[in-house]
Amino acid sequence: MLKTKIAVLVSGGGTNLQAIIDAQKSGIIKSGEIALVASNKADAYALKRAEANGIKAVLMTDEAALLKILREEGIELIVLAGFLKILSKEFIQAYENRIINIHPSLIPSFCGKGCYGLHVHEKALEYGVKVTGATVHYVNEIPDGGQIIAQKAVEIQDGDTPEILQKRVMEQAEWILLPRAVEEISRKLAKGKIE
Ligand code: GRF
Repeated sequence: MLKTKIAVLVSGGGTNLQAIIDAQKSGIIKSGEIALVASNKADAYALKRAEANGIKAVLMTDEAALLKILREEGIELIVLAGFLKILSKEFIQAYENRIINIHPSLIPSFCGKGCYGLHVHEKALEYGVKVTGATVHYVNEIPDGGQIIAQKAVEIQDGDTPEILQKRVMEQAEWILLPRAVEEISRKLAKGKIE
């Protein structure tokens, strides 16, 4: 079967990108392959991770230029992995049902505009919930509002700080959930293609 061509969009450290790269190496992801990593931040460490693994890595601050390279590379699935820029309606429509995002909470809690990174965990601790987690979802025009693909719960422990909780959610949920979802969707998309 022809593999689904994946682009991963990043803005930061790229530990979720690393989880996808590792899953590709270990065979957890076998129906898709990362063809491109694009960052909207020049200093994103994620770009270095891509280069270290022989994956084409580009800096793209402009949406039109991003669309152009995605088309040139024949990208079929876009994974937002710590990508901190809101995509336009036109961009989302161009890749309808082909853009997924990982969010570090159980949507619909602690999500939406301005709720990203450490803020998410700060809010969960402030509220006093005992369980949080991560969600993989399709991207539509509403921030964190698209259809849910997968979720995984993580317990909050006494003495948690936002940083400690962020690390636990990544280790116990994000890095497991995202590669699995990428494989699942890649497989579905690959099935629709001709050998
Ligand atoms: C993760 O917590 C992800 O859920 C959120 O942004 C963070 C990115 O971390 N969307 P990294 O760049 O993958 O290390």
